[in-house]
Amino acid sequence: MHVLLELDSLTAGIDALPRGEMKRALFLVLSAMLTKVSKQPGDTTGRKAPRRLSGGFAIRFFVKKTEELVKRLANYQKLVIDPRVEVKVGPGDARHLERVRAGSVALIVASPPYPGVYDYHAHHSTRLRWLELESERFERFEIGSRRGARGKTFEMAVATWRRELGAALVEMARVISPKGAAAVIIADSVLAGRPLRADLLTADLATAAGLTVAARASQKRPHFHLPTQAAFRGSPRREHVLLLRRA
Ligand SMILES: C[S@@+](CC[C@H](N)C(=O)[O-])C[C@H]1O[C@@H](n2cnc3c(N)ncnc32)[C@H](O)[C@@H]1O
Repeated sequence: MHVLLELDSLTAGIDALPRGEMKRALFLVLSAMLTKVSKQPGDTTGRKAPRRLSGGFAIRFFVKKTEELVKRLANYQKLVIDPRVEVKVGPGDARHLERVRAGSVALIVASPPYPGVYDYHAHHSTRLRWLELESERFERFEIGSRRGARGKTFEMAVATWRRELGAALVEMARVISPKGAAAVIIADSVLAGRPLRADLLTADLATAAGLTVAARASQKRPHFHLPTQAAFRGSPRREHVLLLRRA
């Protein structure tokens, strides 16, 4: 109960600030600390577990995180070179970038979900609620989710993923400039108990979308749980970066 009251006080305090950078930065801090003070053991799990926190912990943690952010922003400012470009950040569905003009993007850096691994909407449900962020579209437009693959055969789950990632790559091909590039990072994963080689599938979909693989690099990754390890039968699971250009 005391954690709830502390969070509520923090939110009310931030809410009372005038619109602007400071308010946004403080909501960012709140977002970064919510999992730490919730019953969710980590960012990438929807599981609940008991957590005991002393009175005042949430407020002290908020102050510490704010001080950290101030230092990091100051260091970052020193690194930014002139002339400064205006940065716009906004939510959207990677398959429909309505606000981005065709052929206007020099570099895309994308890390799509690894199919069937996480349920980002569920993982962020506490954040979405506390920050009063739009939740319904995030759930509906999420691609590669674990819930979307549940109960499907390997072939059905791959077909879904091909449609979802394929549409995002078609959109990348539309917005990328003639000399532009897209760096897509993606790891092998397991669907319906069978391994999915992400690099082969992504390269295939990229080609179909009118892109070409200019370079690629892969690195071995550990198996974090037994079913994944079993599915790969001793062969490595890898994470890949594919550099894509217009064909
Ligand atoms: C592997 S994570 C990459 C996280 C990223 N590197 C970051 O630091 O925030 C995949 C991300 O894709 C997002 N995602 C899922 N469906 C999406 C969609 N249709 N359009 C854009 N992003 C989506 C997920 O919410 C998740 O944050």
